[in-house]
Amino acid sequence: MKSFVRIVEVGPRDGLQNEKTQIATADKIALIDRLSATGLRSIEATSFVSPKWVPQLADAAEVFAGIARQPEVRYPVLVPNEQGYERARAVGVEEIAVFTAASEAFNQKNINASIDESLQRFAPVMQRASADGVAVRGYVSTVLGCPYQGDVPLTDVVRVARALHEMGCYEISLGDTIGVGTPAKARAMLLAVAQEVPISALAVHFHDTYGQALANILACLEEGVAVVDSAVSGTGGCPYAKGASGNVASEDVVYMLHGLGIETGIDLPKLAETGRWLAGLLGRETGSKVGKALAAS
Ligand code: HMG
Ligand code: MG
Repeated sequence: MKSFVRIVEVGPRDGLQNEKTQIATADKIALIDRLSATGLRSIEATSFVSPKWVPQLADAAEVFAGIARQPEVRYPVLVPNEQGYERARAVGVEEIAVFTAASEAFNQKNINASIDESLQRFAPVMQRASADGVAVRGYVSTVLGCPYQGDVPLTDVVRVARALHEMGCYEISLGDTIGVGTPAKARAMLLAVAQEVPISALAVHFHDTYGQALANILACLEEGVAVVDSAVSGTGGCPYAKGASGNVASEDVVYMLHGLGIETGIDLPKLAETGRWLAGLLGRETGSKVGKALAAS
């Protein structure tokens, strides 16, 4: 296993996008600023998708413009098309993430496009990003199962991951969107992708619907993955993935990593405190077991 793992904190984006009650822009900004003070080096701040599709993040521009960006922290945002790219650049975004899926059925529901149409849509975004010196991350969703299609062939996961990498994404995040994966399947999926994309350019993104996320992450760490996506307080889910629940909680991932002797640079008590603050804001208990345990200790 690698001695350092980078956490990509997706709470402000994946964590909030599915919340039904509108969260105040000032609270979203406060969340990101708190996260920036925990030692995290990558915080996915928001999403420049269509506000008709994700109303919760309609204030993406205001959020991004309002945060106190720290020089050592990267703040990627989701961008689905050129319109999103322009909105993001207008407020000074320096890193974006494009997203598609290994399942045709999910892509139609989520971005109203086939896999190949989505890749074509990204091409001009990638060209402009390259010209502007903007780094691009790529997401592949439904890598271990699809809510509409069921099983997803590994060959489809590999094809889409390779296509994003060849288009210029510096890192490919492999998403178990509905959290159905188990460790042996996660390992096999990762190893299949790693035949075509260097493992140093791969990240894993597990939702915890069936409580398998930490086990899946461990299996992938054992194969050499060094980037893990997670959301503080275990918030999250995709509005267009039926049955999807929260991301694995960042606090729980960091606790496991530190216990394994792997460094993250993150101040765990501070992160857990932020997770409990967010849970209070959302009017519920933290979704992180570590967050709860640290509060009780
Ligand atoms: P569409 O309806 O096919 O697009 O949506 P369109 O080009 O026909 O545009 C429709 C309207 O949206 C137009 O407005 C556009 O101007 C506007 P109108 O003319 O009707 O007034 N529009 C935009 N407005 C602002 N910003 C934009 C933008 N684009 C169009 N960027 C589209 C296609 C891709 C836009 C839409 O389907 C969409 O926004 N989908 C996003 C869905 C989403 O955000 N899902 C969650 C993120 S993915 C996820 O969570 C998975 C992940 O976490 C990994 C994992 O867990 O697997 C990443
Ligand atoms: Mg997700």
